[in-house]
Amino acid sequence: MLEIKNLVSGYDGPDVLHGIDLEIAPGSLVAVIGANGAGKSTLLRTLSSLIRTRSGSISVDGKDLTNAGPSAIVANGMSHVPEGRQVFATMTVAENLDLGAYRSSRSVSAQRLEKVLEIFPALKERLNNVAGSLSGGQQQMLAIGRGLMAEPKYLLLDEPSLGLAPIVVQTIFDILPNLTKTGVGVLLIEQNGQIALSIADRAVLLERGSITLRGTGQELLKNPEVIERYLGVGNSIGADPEKQKVMSVRIRTALGSEETGIFAKINSGIA
Ligand SMILES: Nc1ncnc2c1ncn2[C@@H]1O[C@H](COP(=O)(O)OP(=O)(O)OP(=O)(O)O)[C@@H](O)[C@H]1O
Ligand SMILES: [Mg+2]
Repeated sequence: MLEIKNLVSGYDGPDVLHGIDLEIAPGSLVAVIGANGAGKSTLLRTLSSLIRTRSGSISVDGKDLTNAGPSAIVANGMSHVPEGRQVFATMTVAENLDLGAYRSSRSVSAQRLEKVLEIFPALKERLNNVAGSLSGGQQQMLAIGRGLMAEPKYLLLDEPSLGLAPIVVQTIFDILPNLTKTGVGVLLIEQNGQIALSIADRAVLLERGSITLRGTGQELLKNPEVIERYLGVGNSIGADPEKQKVMSVRIRTALGSEETGIFAKINSGIA
């Protein structure tokens, strides 16, 4: 279990997170949704020790990892795939993936590489290409693949869908249930949570650094307040309108044929 208790953190100024309580069980997918600036990325940065916890605690399977430092976090089973797909553009796909397993022996790293390439076959054909030559979707797969090379118990994903074409978003989200089936716990951050909520076991709404709603993914999907403020197409209070517009179009298209059920349900929920 990844346990976050009463977590408070921030940058140079005032607190950004005001006492977050959240648990991620092995093999479950927990989504955190919220407007831009709510503190979603700050939460992941605090978990991975990139910024300091001011009070509260973070533990993995009973081991306290509060302010343990980024490499101890990875060594104890948490992998953070940051916002904006930070791959090393001039290095090859193989080299980028290898970096994710830098703590492991050659043979272990080769085994993990095989597993990651099974999940993302598109990367297999491009192992010797430089990462900068990949499409946005392939770069996101590479960023997630690099996170998986550490064989994490818990994977922290920061807005994996951002800036990607709808069909690519679907490909990325399709792998998540397969990952959780293998026992990996996933903490998925998304600004506009329609797809995230549709696959989440549990979900929370983060507003100005505090959790203001919790439930199953389906409960939040049906919650009128969430629909109006965070899922409503062109009707989001507090979110960056440009980002919102892009997300809305993408989600509508992505939900397309197969997922119209969910979309229809949400619309009837409003009515
Ligand atoms: N490096 C930083 N230094 C100082 N303040 C920061 C820094 N990064 C974020 N903040 C502030 O912390 C707050 C939360 O930002 P954060 O990036 O966590 O939001 P977010 O929910 O991830 O938003 P987005 O959807 O835009 O990614 C904001 O007020 C932001 O201005
Ligand atoms: Mg963010």
